[in-house]
Amino acid sequence: MSHTDDSLQGDELASQLKSSVVFKGEHSVRDASLKLPPEDMVWWRDAKFGMFLHWGLYAIPARGEWLMHNEQIPADEYAKLADEFAPRHFDAAAWADAAKAAGMKYMVLTARHHDGFALWDSPASFGGFCSARTAARRDFVAEYVAACRAAGLAVGLYYSPMDWRFPGYFQPRELPEDAALLKQQGYGQVEELVSRYGPIDVLWYDGGWLAHQGTDADAAWFWEPLKLNAMVRAHQPHCVINPRSGWEGDFQCDEGGHEVTGPILDEPWEKCLNLNRPSWGYNQRDDLMTAQEVVRMLVNVVGRGGNVLLNVGPDADGVIPPAHVDVLRQVGDWLAVNGQAIHGTRPGPLQPVEGRYCVTHRGDRLYVLVLDWGTERQVVLPALDRAVVSAAILSGGAVICQPQGRGVLLTRDGERAAAGYPSVVELVLDSGL
Ligand code: GLC
Repeated sequence: MSHTDDSLQGDELASQLKSSVVFKGEHSVRDASLKLPPEDMVWWRDAKFGMFLHWGLYAIPARGEWLMHNEQIPADEYAKLADEFAPRHFDAAAWADAAKAAGMKYMVLTARHHDGFALWDSPASFGGFCSARTAARRDFVAEYVAACRAAGLAVGLYYSPMDWRFPGYFQPRELPEDAALLKQQGYGQVEELVSRYGPIDVLWYDGGWLAHQGTDADAAWFWEPLKLNAMVRAHQPHCVINPRSGWEGDFQCDEGGHEVTGPILDEPWEKCLNLNRPSWGYNQRDDLMTAQEVVRMLVNVVGRGGNVLLNVGPDADGVIPPAHVDVLRQVGDWLAVNGQAIHGTRPGPLQPVEGRYCVTHRGDRLYVLVLDWGTERQVVLPALDRAVVSAAILSGGAVICQPQGRGVLLTRDGERAAAGYPSVVELVLDSGL
């Protein structure tokens, strides 16, 4: 666990502990007929890096998106925040610009989080609790979708079936009528999101469990995720769906800022984490990852076959804090030079070595993403079944490439890598992998 998780408490802490260990959705309900064929996943696997956005009423108090539950704020009290929620500087194009500057290829916005407040005009919302019918009087989802498309970014929407406003969420068996209203709202709102805004590239569920207990799969009796996602597929045959509705989904999820270790994983997967560690939603406290930390995370994830969905929390006015945008820009600067080792690649064929390097490839190019050259300034690769034609460091500087046993010895020769960033050795092979 990272030090920042010390600030979490109660159910929120439990949710993170659970989620940081294994893939969410691993034990979920299976139904291969709902899964996208591999060719529909290619864009997503190529994309590697996306922007997660947690934004809603919780940006006003700025103590994280769990405050309603953590601070036991009654629903009608919490709902008063909607009277104040009238962002002065919301500009989805600015969000998209920040994502592009970071080298990201897709975005995922919390259309509705656990507090129940919808960022669009939602007739299915219980009590009309949405931005189009309260102070803001705007359909932020519509503006966001348009901005993503205009910027050439894939469009993702996050939706939480659970809603703390419903006592039936906490006692589904004891309060079946209230729970039925929650479910009806969930189906209605998901249908709105997938039928009103044109093609949705990613649908990202969260909180497909009940009473914060067990797994999403344990709650499948209630949500009937196969039925829910069959409805989604009818509207959006090519949408990439995450596993957190209780159905296994098109990819696996790993959550949290802990370091990624271990071998290459075969199935598509995504790590989501916070740029500002204290919470997903805007927080008055700043504890930002550095650009170097983000890049190392990206290397470690992409080198194991995953994508990184990096979260930012815009403030109550809709602005991503400038210091956060600045880190994103620095990550983008690294990707501008080294992105060919990330975007559009596949991991391997060599397994990552913890703390030292990861390997990706595309065609006849093999990329060794070196995290640490060691005191000898050398990296030894195991045998490759291709000959190396040439070697270069993408950021400039020389590297000597020599056979060593059946493997390959790379020696860094005077490269001046920017401090703390991985450097990338590009090997041109005599034929494609
Ligand atoms: C957890 C939290 C939630 C956050 C999500 C992102 O499930 O409950 O606040 O939106 O992680 O993956």
